[in-house]
Amino acid sequence: FKTIIEPFRIHSTQQIPFPTREERLEAIRKAGWNLFGLRSEDVIIDMLTDSGTGAMSARQWAGMMEGDETYAGSRSYYAFRDAVHEITGFQEVIPTHQGRAAERILFSILGGKGKVIPSNTHFDTTRANVEYSGAKAVDLVIQEGRIPSSEHPFKGNMDIAALDKCISEVGAENVPVVMLTVTNNSGGGQPVSLENIRAVRAVCDKYKVPFFLDACRFAENAWFIKMREASCAHMTPMEIANAMFAQADGCTMSAKKDGMANIGGFLAMKCPEVAARCRDLLILTEGFPTYGGLAGYDMEAIAIGLREALDPLYLCYRARSTAYLAEKATSAGVPIMKPVGGHAVYLDASALLPHIPREEFPAQALALALYVEGGVRGCEIGSLMFGDVAKMELVRLAMPRRTYTQSHLDYVGEVIERVAAKARAKELNGYRIVEQSQWLRHFTVKLEPL
Ligand code: F0G
Repeated sequence: FKTIIEPFRIHSTQQIPFPTREERLEAIRKAGWNLFGLRSEDVIIDMLTDSGTGAMSARQWAGMMEGDETYAGSRSYYAFRDAVHEITGFQEVIPTHQGRAAERILFSILGGKGKVIPSNTHFDTTRANVEYSGAKAVDLVIQEGRIPSSEHPFKGNMDIAALDKCISEVGAENVPVVMLTVTNNSGGGQPVSLENIRAVRAVCDKYKVPFFLDACRFAENAWFIKMREASCAHMTPMEIANAMFAQADGCTMSAKKDGMANIGGFLAMKCPEVAARCRDLLILTEGFPTYGGLAGYDMEAIAIGLREALDPLYLCYRARSTAYLAEKATSAGVPIMKPVGGHAVYLDASALLPHIPREEFPAQALALALYVEGGVRGCEIGSLMFGDVAKMELVRLAMPRRTYTQSHLDYVGEVIERVAAKARAKELNGYRIVEQSQWLRHFTVKLEPL
């Protein structure tokens, strides 16, 4: 059959709110034209993020009932540790309440003034945690990764020559770790090839620098490797994930993505000495090393979710749903980041709204129009989020895992179509900042229409 169906049946449902256009306008005005300021009742289809917004399986819910809430030495911790170990091969597994807690701990130890931390593209929280430690975050994705229309199959790849040059210029002693984000979220959810992961390893070996994966979407990355890297076509997603992690010395992880959980994360690595220092910090702010800010039941849900994320039937459906939404945007004449990534469709706002200069946040203008028009909440990934270092003006429509059906996506497609018509008629306006914070301003910034 050519129809790829959702490989699950729906077992419990949640009501979708239907605010009117007037209610939506009022809500977004009150929120300072910041989509993060809305309440869930204000939103019809929520594509703000794929983080923590997925539906858990009946198995995960059953696992939660088995959660062991013992403070020290919980059985659930060992189930969690075993699942992480099976996938990553890392011996040291440190649970954290989410990905950024793992980042904060890692960069508190490895970062600091004068240090430089390269990545293909640091995600916003990663960049902020690197910079908060005093270190400099450098993005070295390949050139094609910065061109939305380029069809390169692995646009998340690191520019290997640039990485080598960066380390030789600043000196290996000032590069405490090389990061690689799989898939490359800020660069459009683009995968990194196994070949490129191996090449990063080789550069790290040359300079004796540790190599960590930001592994949030490791399963989706493994799927793209299976589909696009001929030498891996015969491998299972689990085997590919094993091969990816085998190249690295450690990883940070948000289990809210490919952990298929609503909360959680971890820091995992080979080196027992660095792990011991991480655990000292963990105890200070997160919790004891066998729970690290999570309930026992969260760790059970993650242990099951990590394996479910590698199910080929699930990954096939996942990639197809994202591609389906991308086809809707394309047929509405909206340029998108190509090829389609794993967890989201990225609309190219600078191509659609050439009349709005980047100082007036064209991607935010597009995201706001999608909300006002149809109650669809996406997320600006451009100058509002990254300031002057933004390379592109994108609106991300993220796909919560196992949550929306094909007709929800058909509706989103219709909303995109209407907004695109208005954009072409130059009916969308830019915005100006009236209030902002020093770190991660996009979460709390207040704007006004121009
Ligand atoms: N790294 C990447 C690549 C991410 O996408 C995220 C989160 C994090 C780290 C931090 O993880 O949220 O658990 O603390 N991304 C979410 C998103 C928020 O919407 O893309 P966290």
